[in-house]
Amino acid sequence: MSKHDDDKPKAPAGPPSPERRSFFTTAANLAMAGGLVASYGTLAGMAGRFLYPSKNRDRAWMYVADLVSMKVGDSLPFKLPDGSAIVVARQGERGDVSDFIALSSVCPHLGCHVHWEANNNRFFCPCHNGAFDPTGRATEGPPAAAGQSLGRYPLRVDRGLLFIEVPLEDNQDTSAG
Ligand code: FES
Repeated sequence: MSKHDDDKPKAPAGPPSPERRSFFTTAANLAMAGGLVASYGTLAGMAGRFLYPSKNRDRAWMYVADLVSMKVGDSLPFKLPDGSAIVVARQGERGDVSDFIALSSVCPHLGCHVHWEANNNRFFCPCHNGAFDPTGRATEGPPAAAGQSLGRYPLRVDRGLLFIEVPLEDNQDTSAG
């Protein structure tokens, strides 16, 4: 064999064998099916979010305390990530979430600090003798006259721990300024 034999153009390869063709067809079909599944999955996810919007997407659960550390009549001041002042009070001894309540501790009248009075079964604002029932509804003083109740926050108990639902900080409007 001369050196020039290597330089000769090679004869074109024949058509792919049936096995090779079958392999490529199967691979192409799988790739197409995968693409369709991914597309429909994305579409289904978008449709699900549209049809069943999660009202809690902009909120999160934050640990407050373990149940055994709060006795009936106890209250706990709590600060949310956005700076809101909360008071969490234990009003019952059933051992579930219905024992607890979380309310804004800022009086809706002029913003004084409201605290839980277990012996009087009420939340009380000392500034102008504003009083609120155990659910935060105004019952006496200027807040009652104006129908201003305390804002309430959802709570939940999970494995003996108490959690409060709070708004997420990154949902606050940062476009201003
Ligand atoms: S500030 Fe609370 S009653 Fe006035």
